[in-house]
Amino acid sequence: MAAFSPVSRIKHPIILIGLMGCGKSTIGRELSKQTGMPLLDTDLVIEEQIGKSIPDIFAEFGEARFRALETALLRYLADRHASPEHRNCIISTGGGIVLKPENRTILRSLGFVVWLNVDVPALLARTARANNRPLLQNADRAATLSSLLLRRRPLYEVTAHMRLNTTDTDIPTIVREILQAAVLFYD
Ligand code: S3P
Repeated sequence: MAAFSPVSRIKHPIILIGLMGCGKSTIGRELSKQTGMPLLDTDLVIEEQIGKSIPDIFAEFGEARFRALETALLRYLADRHASPEHRNCIISTGGGIVLKPENRTILRSLGFVVWLNVDVPALLARTARANNRPLLQNADRAATLSSLLLRRRPLYEVTAHMRLNTTDTDIPTIVREILQAAVLFYD
């Protein structure tokens, strides 16, 4: 049951971007629950398409192939977006989706893009137990996350319509702020 009534005014996807561990999947699930809008997780769609996990796709085909799959998926979503019955969904993305200029353009045209910005110590804690992220399978995860953030911050900045610092913010507050902004964005 949708808990946020003005949400029926949201006619376009809400898209979550940000570094691994910033909470895109968790916030995406909560947004989906509250709005009734289906959740599309780009990593999961690619895993289903290829029939392999993200680590296996990286290991067998390489990162460049994975990036090409992300772009193909975004192009498909942009085409599909043309039909009104496909407009409403929550899209949770992989952390590197902003790397390609074409992806950034499509993301911005596809919907309301929200960057969940979390500081590195929190990202470290949140990614500590997971072994499903090929880019973090090395000795110095803190250094890796710091350099990824340094490189990607400007890309998240130019892609996002809204930036939220969510290091110390609880999930209900984050979800409420996103929905309030999304409603205004499309007014
Ligand atoms: C990546 C982030 C991952 C996944 C892949 C690459 C990245 O998604 O797409 O491992 O380049 O930051 P999450 O951000 O959901 O962990």
